[in-house]
Amino acid sequence: MERERERKEKEKKREKDKKREKNMKNVLHNAKNVIYRSGMLNVYSEYYLRCKLLSCKLKQRFNILVPGTVLWLSTYNCNFYCKHCEANAGDTHVPELSTKEICDVITELRKMNVKMFSITGGEPLVRKDIFQVIQHVIDSGMEYGIASNGYLVTKFEEEFRKMRPYDYFTSIDGLERTNDEIRGVKGAFRRNLEALEFFKSIGVKHRLVNTVVLPNNIEQLPELKKVIMNSATTFWRLSVPIPVGRAKDNDKMSLNNEQLKYLFDFVIDTSKEFDIELSDEAGYLGCQSLKLRSRPFFCGAGLTKCYIMPDGEVLGCSIFYDNEFSEGNIRNKSFKEIWQTGFSRFRNPQCADEKCMSCKHIKSCQGGCWGMRSGNKHCYKDIWEKNIDCANS
Ligand SMILES: C[S@@+](CC[C@H](N)C(=O)[O-])C[C@H]1O[C@@H](n2cnc3c(N)ncnc32)[C@H](O)[C@@H]1O
Ligand code: SF4
Ligand code: SF4
Repeated sequence: MERERERKEKEKKREKDKKREKNMKNVLHNAKNVIYRSGMLNVYSEYYLRCKLLSCKLKQRFNILVPGTVLWLSTYNCNFYCKHCEANAGDTHVPELSTKEICDVITELRKMNVKMFSITGGEPLVRKDIFQVIQHVIDSGMEYGIASNGYLVTKFEEEFRKMRPYDYFTSIDGLERTNDEIRGVKGAFRRNLEALEFFKSIGVKHRLVNTVVLPNNIEQLPELKKVIMNSATTFWRLSVPIPVGRAKDNDKMSLNNEQLKYLFDFVIDTSKEFDIELSDEAGYLGCQSLKLRSRPFFCGAGLTKCYIMPDGEVLGCSIFYDNEFSEGNIRNKSFKEIWQTGFSRFRNPQCADEKCMSCKHIKSCQGGCWGMRSGNKHCYKDIWEKNIDCANS
């Protein structure tokens, strides 16, 4: 009896908290709208990228530019075979860094005062020494984040309890059947939701779900929203498909303007009730920037972040998956030297796209995301410029 009463009271309190949170979000949303109408946020969006770039350049000049986050593609191996995988993951095709090689870089990163080490892949949890590396990150005094498809989390609960990540990033690409079909493994959806619950239970505060929005899952967004909101997710990121890896030159993996418009509206609508954003790869979003994301577009590649690829090549962004864009390899140069002498393509960016060169937004946009540009999918101006909020911008 007593227990039942306690349970009901807890339930009531949870409902009340949820309602309060929803009201708060609505108040914030309305306040943001008022500021929007004043045009102030448009100015902020317009100048954001220029200011960030300038601040990074000044830091570089005084030799104090340090990446806030270094991301490590720990492997190209994967226990999944997602149809759209940007990394073309499955079996690895390069000689991957050894435990010692990556641990030496981690020691060097700490000396440079890098604060965050994010581990992605491929699937990090198939790397046999992954917890040895993670332990070294923690011992070095850095925070770590991990991106995983979630399938093997149960196997490593004890390790994660001991070595708790700062954030957990995972992927759900549709409702159960669609997700499992896209990701190539039955049970992927269910196990992923369980993994999110596990990370919640051990006190990981940031639990992000990424959904790549594709022509064959876009209609499921309203239903998926219910699933996400009832799960242990704290943040939902909706990604536009990047035309690289297995999604390269594949029209079935790209959204048309009508679908993109729907996606924009869906994100704006959902943001009234849940923490949600459109991925950075969608680039500059003009007057709609702050409705679709918490901050305007800025590509931090080679400025605030960089990637160490499985074979030790250092790239501003992994999205090229092409050593032509490598700034050096940690097997034959120190990370510090690569960081201090490379990345001029990002630090002095010149967008060569003809359409961009004559566009009035070039300074705020810089031609958007490099990966999207490689497949000519980088400009969303046709969608946001027609929006009513852009009338005065
Ligand atoms: C490469 S995965 C690595 C981490 C892990 N294996 C996973 O799937 O979560 C990182 C994220 O990129 C997403 N992704 C893969 N291919 C993509 C593409 N072509 N366009 C946009 N996002 C993509 C995945 O769905 C995942 O959320
Ligand atoms: S998206 Fe992630 S889970 Fe899917 S194949 Fe690529 S690396 Fe593996
Ligand atoms: S044309 Fe180029 S610079 Fe202009 S908004 Fe589009 S992507 Fe950005």
